[in-house]
Amino acid sequence: MISDWLSFWDKPHCIYVNARHKDVHYRGLAQAIAALAPAPRAHVLDYGCGEALHADIAAAACGELLLCDGAPNVRAGIASRFAGHPNIRALAPEDVERLPDHSLDLIVLHSVVQYLTGGETQALFALFHRLLRPGGLLQVSDVIPPQVAASTDVATLIRFAAANGFLLAALLGLARTLFSHYWWLRVRLGLTHYSEAEMIDKLAAAGFAACRAAKNMGHDQARMAFLARPK
Ligand SMILES: C[S@@+](CC[C@H](N)C(=O)[O-])C[C@H]1O[C@@H](n2cnc3c(N)ncnc32)[C@H](O)[C@@H]1O
Repeated sequence: MISDWLSFWDKPHCIYVNARHKDVHYRGLAQAIAALAPAPRAHVLDYGCGEALHADIAAAACGELLLCDGAPNVRAGIASRFAGHPNIRALAPEDVERLPDHSLDLIVLHSVVQYLTGGETQALFALFHRLLRPGGLLQVSDVIPPQVAASTDVATLIRFAAANGFLLAALLGLARTLFSHYWWLRVRLGLTHYSEAEMIDKLAAAGFAACRAAKNMGHDQARMAFLARPK
């Protein structure tokens, strides 16, 4: 029985309705991370990276790309996919804790804080503050505001699918998801939501000067992104 979010992500799931959905999703994220990389030699961490199918696109825009995921099977998948890639390393959360202070230029935390408690997110922000160089950037994105309901996620997926040629698969996938562990967990555990002010305060408490970005990374513009720099 799956009883927590990390176990959910560690097992096969049907969040991506088909291969095209997964491909378009991860390609878009990799392109967005590449656009954020501040310099060709930058050290970049994608924390809670998931399968990161197209991380090579992001890696091409930076000196080193560190991929960290807390789910052991997901991590094994990325380690094997990018084994031998010259500037991609797969790390466990405990490896990230051992990175040298002020060694990173950019950290991306996309679509993760909703699966963490407030305390877990605060601890991560403190870690990221220690790891970022002065002037470095933390992006926290896909943050769900309090008023956004699950029905908004459904509508967003349908629009994304229609624009990318997998509408039928999305409708079938949504029906499948309704009977999956995902909904069971979403109802039982819920997701952590933040208002804009709450997220900015949380980042400030960890020593960041933060503001909301004009756009969320990825296709879901009902969710928010924040850009934060160490004060
Ligand atoms: C919704 S997925 C997002 C994956 C990717 N960032 C994306 O947007 O497609 C959330 C990911 O965060 C990972 N995760 C959840 N809690 C974590 C934690 N405490 N430490 C590291 N990774 C975690 C999960 O294993 C999962 O792969």
